[in-house]
Amino acid sequence: MRDIIYFTKKRNVLVLDQTLLPFKVKYVEASNYKNIVNLIKKLGIRGAPAIGVAGSFAAFLALRDIPKKNISDFHSLLIERLSQIELSRPTAVNLKWSIDRFREILNTNHSLSHRRMLQLFYKEAKEIYQQEKKVSIKISNFGSKLFSNKDKILTHCNTGSLATTGPGTALGVIKSANKKYKGIKVFATETRPLLQGSRLTVWECQQSKIDCTLITDSMASHVIRNKEINSVIVGADRIAINGDVANKIGTYQLAIACKYHKIPFYVAAPISTFDFECKNGEMIKIEERLPEEIIKIKGSLVSGAKKVFNPAFDITPSKLITAIITEKGILYNPRKSVIEKFS
Ligand code: MRU
Repeated sequence: MRDIIYFTKKRNVLVLDQTLLPFKVKYVEASNYKNIVNLIKKLGIRGAPAIGVAGSFAAFLALRDIPKKNISDFHSLLIERLSQIELSRPTAVNLKWSIDRFREILNTNHSLSHRRMLQLFYKEAKEIYQQEKKVSIKISNFGSKLFSNKDKILTHCNTGSLATTGPGTALGVIKSANKKYKGIKVFATETRPLLQGSRLTVWECQQSKIDCTLITDSMASHVIRNKEINSVIVGADRIAINGDVANKIGTYQLAIACKYHKIPFYVAAPISTFDFECKNGEMIKIEERLPEEIIKIKGSLVSGAKKVFNPAFDITPSKLITAIITEKGILYNPRKSVIEKFS
């Protein structure tokens, strides 16, 4: 597979539109920042680290496309555009992390011309891309130590090469474990309502020759008990300094099921997913998405519900988490005193 996002020779951006996967592999060209904002909103590109990278490419386009009349004093318009990009998905902190890096460049190089600033933005976007790639390789390698031959691993949502610029976080760990050990079996939840598990994780597992079984989200506890799952591993969209984790809706119930069945519950995430300004999970803003995602399937109505609740993420309390796997190592029993050291 080619990279999920990259610059063309004209420095436009090509993005793999994940809404069409697994049956259509199609790249769309983004020639301005709004194209990328729209792709992020509709989950054409998704997964916290990938959203951060997409935001950085959008920041470059937002600066490049400043109208001529604003070019001598481009700062205020750019600041407004950076905020629009940051708000395109509110829970994944990687987006804020990445946009803050461009704000920092803007502030520390205030007197630079538009042309020189654009060079710095281009360099930064490429740097963020490469950094997330290296980090996901490290996470994958560190995390694989937690597994053994014949392990049965359950995972949720998609946390692989479609969600990062490298092998992935949780799915990257699984890929690495699958290379090291014999007989690894993966159970992937379909991940309602947008099916990141059944469409994307299953596709990636097939490409990486991983033995993968698809289940619906509501089967998870039954499968944990009856298929003797050894551990559950997921990614994260935002981690508070007390270790509470926001991740795809359905994660919390998996952590509770792990506690009950006395098996480890692992989270794999880069340090860019830690929000050092966020004290605990209650402070995390959970994105709520449109009812149509639940009451329609492939554009057809499947429910007459008048009231629908569609939170995209939930919060798993740190006390249910066995360890968080980062690029700097494995944090067992994640809590404030350990996490703060990474800020
Ligand atoms: O709504 P999505 O598909 O962006 O949600 C993705 C997740 O919840 C992932 O688990 C998380 O972003 C980590 S991706 C490495």
